[in-house]
Amino acid sequence: MDDPRRTESGLPVEPVYGPDALAGWDPAERLGAPGAYPFTRGVYASMYTGRPWTMRQYAGFGTARESNERYHRLVEAGTGGLSVAFDLPTQMGYDSDDPLAHGEVGKVGVAVDSLEDLRLLFDGIPLGEVSTSMTINAPAAVLLLLYQLVAEEQGVPGDRLTGTVQNDVLKEYVARGTYIYPPAASLRLTTDLFAYCRAELPRWNTISISGYHMAEAGATPAQEVAFTLANGVEYVRAAVAAGLAVDDFAPRLAFFFVARTTLLEEVAKFRAARRIWARVMREEFGARDPKSLMLRFHTQTAGVQLTAQQPEVNLVRVTVQALAAVLGGTQSLHTNSYDEAIALPTEKAARLALRTQQVLAHETDVTATVDPFAGSYAVESMTDDLEGAALALMARVEELGGAVRAIEQGYQKREIEQAAYAVAQGVDAGERVVVGLNRFQAASEEPYEPLRVDPAIEQEQAARLADLRARRDGAAVARHLDALRAAARGDANVLPPMREALRSLATVGEVCGALREVWGVHRPSDAF
Ligand code: 3HC
Repeated sequence: MDDPRRTESGLPVEPVYGPDALAGWDPAERLGAPGAYPFTRGVYASMYTGRPWTMRQYAGFGTARESNERYHRLVEAGTGGLSVAFDLPTQMGYDSDDPLAHGEVGKVGVAVDSLEDLRLLFDGIPLGEVSTSMTINAPAAVLLLLYQLVAEEQGVPGDRLTGTVQNDVLKEYVARGTYIYPPAASLRLTTDLFAYCRAELPRWNTISISGYHMAEAGATPAQEVAFTLANGVEYVRAAVAAGLAVDDFAPRLAFFFVARTTLLEEVAKFRAARRIWARVMREEFGARDPKSLMLRFHTQTAGVQLTAQQPEVNLVRVTVQALAAVLGGTQSLHTNSYDEAIALPTEKAARLALRTQQVLAHETDVTATVDPFAGSYAVESMTDDLEGAALALMARVEELGGAVRAIEQGYQKREIEQAAYAVAQGVDAGERVVVGLNRFQAASEEPYEPLRVDPAIEQEQAARLADLRARRDGAAVARHLDALRAAARGDANVLPPMREALRSLATVGEVCGALREVWGVHRPSDAF
C-alpha cells in the first residue's frame, strides 16, 4: 500500500465511515438477496451454508504419469476438484518434439501431445465423478475433445462431464501471450466450442474469462474487473453474432480473478463485479435465465505478492488472500504454495496450501453466514466506488470500439503497464512495504531445496511421439486433418472433425498446425 488513504485502484479510503456513507442507499436495489438479482451478495441463496467453495489446486508438471500421481495425492488429501496446468508447448499448440518446444517440455505444466497422454493423465480417475479445470486457451477445443474421448473410453457420456476450459484468448493478447490465431479466428473457435458444448457437453463451463493474469501483470482491481468484463461482453457479442441465443450459452460462462492481500478492497471488487455483470447481461443482452446473470468465478491468490525472501511469510499472505476470496463469495479457490516465488511447489508446500483452505472452511465461522459484509458502511461504500471506477473503464473500452479493437490499439496493455510501474516505484522507494523484501529483512535466508523437473522428459516425450506416429493409421490421420482444414475454411463447426482427427491419434501440434495453415497466426501490433 503506497498511500493508506487510497485503495489499490486509487480510490479514496475514509479513516472512518458512518451512516452518512449509506444515506439514501437502497439495499434492495444495490444488493438484492443472496442468489437473486443483481447477485451482489453471492450467486447462490445459501452460498457456503449450502456447499463450501471447491478447493481446486492448480497442478501439473513433467509427464502425464508424474502429474497423474500428483492428482491422486491431491484427491486423497481432500481437494474438491482437479485443475490441470499444461506446459508451454501444449499451451501454444506445439508437439514436444517440435524445435520450438525445446527446453520447455513438462516445465510449467504437463506435456500433452495426444490422446494417449490424456489417457495417462487421468488414469484411475473417474471422470464422471470429478470436475476438472484445464488451463488451456488457444488449443482449448483440442484438450476438451481429448478429455471427452478419454471419458467416452471410461463409459462416461458427455452430458455427465463437469469442468472448465479457460478458453479465454482475448486476455492472452493483453497479458501472458499464449495466443496462436488472429482475434477473429480465435473468437470463431471460442464460439464453435460454445455451440459444441451446448449440444454435447451441457454441464461443461465453456470459458473462464480471466482477470488473474492481467492482475498479475499489474492491473489494479478496477482495471481487472473492467477489462475482464469487457472481454466477457466481446465473447457474448461474438456468440450472439454467430447465431447462438444468449440463454443457451451464457449460463456456462465462468470467470477467474485474483485475490490480493488488500482484503477489504478485494471483497468490494468481487461484489461489484457480480452486480455489473448481472446488469450487463440483463440490460444489454436481454438474458432472462437467472443463470445467465450469475457471475460464477474461481479465484487464485496473488502470486505476484509472494516473496522469495523469508518464504514462510507467504503462508500469512496466502491466508489473508484466501480469506478475501471467501468473504467475497468465490465458487472455487486455488491457494498458492508458500515456495512458489522460488520454484515449482514441493509436496509439503502444496499440502500446506490446501490445508489453509481447509482451516478457513472447517475451523472458522466465515462459512456460517452469507456475505457477512452486507450493509457495512465501509465495504458497501468501497463496492459502490469500485463499481463506478470499473464502469468508467468499460465505457472507455466501448469508446475505442470494444475489447478487441481496444486490444489492437494496445489500450489495456498500456494502462496495466502504467499501473505496474507505479507499484514497482512504490516498492523501490520503500513507500509500499513488502515485509521481508524492503522492510523487516532477515539477516540470512534459510537453505531451501526446490523441486526439480527432470530434463530427460523431453527425450522421453519425443520417443513416445515417434512410436505413436509409427503405430497409427497415417492415412486416416491425413484424411481427418484434411476434413478439419475444410471445416476451418468454411462455416461448419470445427470441433466434430477435430474430435475425429484426435481419435485417430492426430497430435495436438498437428491439429493446431492444420488450423494455422488455414487461419494464420496473430502478430502483435507492438512486436519488435
Ligand atoms: N446452492 C446450490 N447449488 C450450489 C451451491 C449452493 N450453495 N454451491 C454450489 N452449488 C452447485 C452449483 O450450482 C453447481 O451445480 P451445476 O454443476 O449443476 O451447475 C455445483 O454445485 C458446483 O458448484 P460450482 O459450479 O459453483 O463450483 P465448481 O467448482 O464446479 O465451478 C466455476 C466453479 C468457477 C464455475 C468453474 O468455472 C471452475 O471450476 N473454474 C476453475 C478455473 C480454474 O481452476 N482455473 C485455474 C487457472 S490457473 C491459471 O490460469 C494459470 C496460473 O498461472 C494463474
